[in-house]
Amino acid sequence: MRQSRGQRMVLATCLGSLLLVVFYFQSSSNPAAEDRILKSSWHGKSGRSPLQALYHGDQFEQSSLQATHQRRRDLLNKVCNRYTRKRRLLTPDDLRHLVVDDVHGLLYCYVPKVACTNWKRVMMVLTGQGKYQDPLEIPANEAHVASNLHTLSEYSIPEINYRLRNYLKFIFVREPLERLVSAYRNKFTRSYNTAFHKRYGTKIIRRHRQDPSDEALEHGHDVRFEEFVYYLLDPQTQREEPFNEHWERVHSLCHPCIIHYDVVGKYETLAKDSNYILRLVGADAGVKFPSSSKTTRTNDDMTAKFFQNISPFYQRRLFNLYKMDYLLFNYSIPTYLRTR
Ligand SMILES: *[C@@H]1O[C@H](CO)[C@@H](O)[C@H](O)[C@H]1NC(C)=O
Repeated sequence: MRQSRGQRMVLATCLGSLLLVVFYFQSSSNPAAEDRILKSSWHGKSGRSPLQALYHGDQFEQSSLQATHQRRRDLLNKVCNRYTRKRRLLTPDDLRHLVVDDVHGLLYCYVPKVACTNWKRVMMVLTGQGKYQDPLEIPANEAHVASNLHTLSEYSIPEINYRLRNYLKFIFVREPLERLVSAYRNKFTRSYNTAFHKRYGTKIIRRHRQDPSDEALEHGHDVRFEEFVYYLLDPQTQREEPFNEHWERVHSLCHPCIIHYDVVGKYETLAKDSNYILRLVGADAGVKFPSSSKTTRTNDDMTAKFFQNISPFYQRRLFNLYKMDYLLFNYSIPTYLRTR
């Protein structure tokens, strides 16, 4: 009996993902062949790639910063070893959030609501071959146009493996519930976000509000934070489809237990961590990370207010939903939560 096209494609995909894992863990295969894959090889002032600069660079003034990042990597490893029993295989689809810079040798896993617009802008400057000088000259919506940046999922298996081994892999994370409130405020409390209101708001109101008005059912424009929380905790939600990337856990977006990130940046120390990465790239890159002046940014006090109306029962369940992100990235349980 002949295999259908669909069956053959499934088989090819399975084989592909197996290869991906096999090669990723097999450290030195054939460097000469691999060099041909590279479009260009960046060696900054020091004559090193960013990855080499991180692990073999001069320690000079950065020693305390180096130590901080080493501690973050160690903790990540420890938590991964402790909590993930079965290693899942990576598939190219898991790599959709990894933005590639082939000029300098960088892989950035973007997490929405964690300065990702600014980091995408910087990646566009780094890969733009002179098209842009200043990240802020790139309009925010332009930074999110998929075709402006390449993601690792678009590459062939050998190209993916090469990049996973030789590029500096980094990620930026944020206190999980603060990120969640930031996502809620941005997507459900701004009148211009009609796409989210239609796509998610109408569903949330239909399922989680008693006696909704016809207007609310139609527009989905006035979702309350409690209703959003019920939606996240409703088992049906994730059975239907994965969470939207704005509230999906970093653990599920960036697979930090399979992809070993070299630098874990934090939103709480955004400028410092971003400059650290840009220094590893090399001063020649001449790119400045945009400094933020936003005063409407979601902070801890603001986050606490949103949780005043959530019962301890739901607070506990919500914390558990994001628990892996708390553990992996060393965030402590917020003092405003009443989980006991
Ligand atoms: C975790 O965070 C605490 C307090 O915020 C800090 O003292 C500690 O050094 C951190 N641990 C790691 C491994 O980064």
